[in-house]
Amino acid sequence: MSVKVLQTGLGKIITAIALVVILLVGGLGYFAWYNLFREVPTYYESAEEHFKYGSIGTENAEGIPYWIWLVLPRLFPEYLPGSGGYASLGLTWEEGKETPVGISKKTIGFPRQGITCAVCHSGTYRKKPEDKPVIVPAAPSNKFDSQSYLRFLTASAKDPRFTPDYILNAIAYNYDLSWIETQLYRYLIIPQTKKAILKQEQSYSWMDSRPNWGPGRIDPFNPVKFRTLSLPLDDTIGNSDMMSIWNQKQHQGFALHWDGLETSLTETVNTGAIGDGATRKSIDLPGLQRVEKYITELDPPKYPFEINQSLADKGKSIFDNNCASCHAFGGERTGTVIPINEIGTDRHRLDMWTKEAADAYNEYAEGYEYDFDELRKTDGYVSVSLDGLWLRAPYLHNGSVPYLKDLLEAPENRVSVFYRGYDVYEPEKVGFIAQGEEAKKYGFKYDTTIVGNSNQGHLYGIDLPKLDKSALIEYLKTL
Ligand code: HEC
Ligand code: HEC
Repeated sequence: MSVKVLQTGLGKIITAIALVVILLVGGLGYFAWYNLFREVPTYYESAEEHFKYGSIGTENAEGIPYWIWLVLPRLFPEYLPGSGGYASLGLTWEEGKETPVGISKKTIGFPRQGITCAVCHSGTYRKKPEDKPVIVPAAPSNKFDSQSYLRFLTASAKDPRFTPDYILNAIAYNYDLSWIETQLYRYLIIPQTKKAILKQEQSYSWMDSRPNWGPGRIDPFNPVKFRTLSLPLDDTIGNSDMMSIWNQKQHQGFALHWDGLETSLTETVNTGAIGDGATRKSIDLPGLQRVEKYITELDPPKYPFEINQSLADKGKSIFDNNCASCHAFGGERTGTVIPINEIGTDRHRLDMWTKEAADAYNEYAEGYEYDFDELRKTDGYVSVSLDGLWLRAPYLHNGSVPYLKDLLEAPENRVSVFYRGYDVYEPEKVGFIAQGEEAKKYGFKYDTTIVGNSNQGHLYGIDLPKLDKSALIEYLKTL
């Protein structure tokens, strides 16, 4: 046997081994990609369904594996504020849906849960306690308690029973994982989920030294400052009421957010997704464009009780004289920032946002096709338009005034302690029932003496004669 033949033989063996190795590595790579990273797009024909359930790109970084997410309330009900699973946190399930309104389900290797705009921007109301809640997309959520949701997840992850055996057992009631999936959940997905939730807790630890948000409220921009932009911790309180986002077609040119920190709707939509946990890369731009179109065209909901039209007609002239300059479409100052010294409402939300934060956010997506340029620091609150006002209670940026009737009273005569989160409507005072046994049982105690919760300021219309106030309120119901 010549050396040459031997070499060729060896060469063949080496090539064969190399091929096997390549196939193995490739196969493993494919296996890992398929089971952990493969993205299966979701698509909803209807724009409303897309708004409620469609992915905006939050599943990759902050989504929880769907099957784990589904069984957690059953395994750790003691960390929820009440019975009924996620419904006790103010999430609403529509009949026959896999997830509550505002929760998406998307496969990225394995099914994952994420949040959509509708988790904060959809509301419910009931005319009577025995009614089923009517779901209204793009309304400010009056029930969703995102802080208690975060705390529920961490308390569950910290519980020593948060183990593969305990969780896999529970999943088996809902779904048959294959042998391979079970191994992935046991050795990778469940331990990683626990780690990720505990890490998330650390990045939110600043919450614990500040007043609770309660349902329908959130400190939306401190997480952006401390988590997304890595700015140093400060002691500001940014608690703010969720906003309605319908009817954007009539809002063109308005400053956006309570303090007008944005002027572009597209940027507001995209920063909304980043604020919810989408990353610079995972953000779903086509999905968000659909959302923007939807909220631009969507009309505000009509008041569902009877309106006394002749009284409302009288109220219109009172509105024109006292309110229209700041609140009517076409009003001289509508949609602009009214300086804090003039409006006089609680200033904490305003002071939370800084010039440094605006500059850093404008830099954040430099080089990406979407980019941000329009964030800024202002010195007051926006004179928001009042479309769909009836469903936006409690009122003002911090949700400190439960009823429209109260807003037309001097601050010392406004309710100082009430309950929010109960969705039965109060047509007399215009707002959700915020006092009494039921409100107390289902609601969160809102104390206006707590820092950030002040109900001062906005003194317009408080000196009007009683009859004029009733007429004005009747008119406000028609907006
Ligand atoms: C976790 C809750 C939450 C989620 C999720 C959320 N938002 Fe918001 N959104 C808010 C809050 C709270 C405000 C008011 C914030 C402030 O200015 O303090 C707001 C304000 C807005 C505004 C400004 C409205 C106006 O009239 O000035 C728009 C528009 C908006 N959101 C769109 C979106 C879109 C689109 C999404 C999804 C991509 C989204 N939001 C997701 C809580 C949320
Ligand atoms: C000088 C401008 C100005 C005038 C005049 C004015 N408002 Fe306002 N209004 C504002 C500003 C600014 C805010 C937001 C303040 C905040 O949330 O801290 C606001 C908020 C409101 C809200 C709360 C909206 C929500 O979604 O919670 C209502 C309701 C309201 N105004 C009604 C009226 C009525 C009724 C009148 C007339 C009697 C009136 N306003 C007159 C500037 C004005």
